[in-house]
Amino acid sequence: MTNSTKPQTDEFARDVLEGLSATPKRLSSKYFYDDEGSRLFVEIMKLPEYYLTQSELEIFREQAGEIHREFEASSAPFDLLELGAGDGSKTSLLVSRFLDEGAEFRYIPVDISSEALGYLEEKFSEQFPGLEIKPVKGDYFRTLTTLSERSSRRKIVLFLGSNIGNFRDRQAVEFFQHLHDSLNENDLLFIGFDLHKNPKTILNAYDDAQGITSRFNLNLLRRINRELDANFDIYEFLHYASYHPIEKAARSFLISQKQQTVTIGALERSFEFKQWEPIYMEISQKYDLETIRVMAEQSGFAIQQNFFDSVNFYVNSLWKPEFEKE
Ligand code: AVJ
Repeated sequence: MTNSTKPQTDEFARDVLEGLSATPKRLSSKYFYDDEGSRLFVEIMKLPEYYLTQSELEIFREQAGEIHREFEASSAPFDLLELGAGDGSKTSLLVSRFLDEGAEFRYIPVDISSEALGYLEEKFSEQFPGLEIKPVKGDYFRTLTTLSERSSRRKIVLFLGSNIGNFRDRQAVEFFQHLHDSLNENDLLFIGFDLHKNPKTILNAYDDAQGITSRFNLNLLRRINRELDANFDIYEFLHYASYHPIEKAARSFLISQKQQTVTIGALERSFEFKQWEPIYMEISQKYDLETIRVMAEQSGFAIQQNFFDSVNFYVNSLWKPEFEKE
């Protein structure tokens, strides 16, 4: 597609070098989603413990009509832009309902996995023959910048699945502020937030019985082996998940089970791991409504409406950008 792989590999290499040189060691969860990682995430979404997907699906299944009414300020055609679209399985519920109701829109899924985008395009064109789909492969930060240039139509931006949870609150606000800058008066932002709840329910979602989440995490070490010529022995690393109820943060780590040295060819460097030394892999932030309200306000949005599932595990929050009047 448009980007050559080289600069991306360089950025990956740089981030791995920085993360594994830091104390404590860390790797960025944004690198989970190579083609294999995207496949594993689809498996995670089917897990009984991973309630997030089921909750968001329930909201879309039960409330798609109402969501459509809130989206449709006028009957003018709009662009439905989805950041981090993945396999689009949840979004198809919305798309289906919108089409049934005669809405005129283009669907623009943005993702970093070309395999996921290809699959999505194929599935959607089969399921929705009349729908115009324009997939964009790219990091969504970079895509955001070009978003406004791509089209002058009204934009509705979807950021689903509690993907925002991979940011700390301050980064999340920066992300929303950035998004605000590329939106116009009548545009909307529709965001999925995972709410805080019984800590055990949350912990189980990140520590499933089948070990898929462990494989998902370890896949990043495999990816470093594949793409950066490294020799991680993934059997010597242990997936460990935690949930901190005050910070409302689920975190995952890969723990070195023994003292070991890992060599990364592309970096021409070796890294020492002490026995039981963790690599911090991911944060999945959970929210309460007050935090969501404050984040909206700090980034220049007003909450137009919140959509909850029947047990209040999850909320899809519809935000309207506010602009100062001259
Ligand atoms: C895709 C970022 C929403 O944090 O819940 C799932 C990724 N990590 N299981 C999440 C994930 C482990 C997921 N997000």
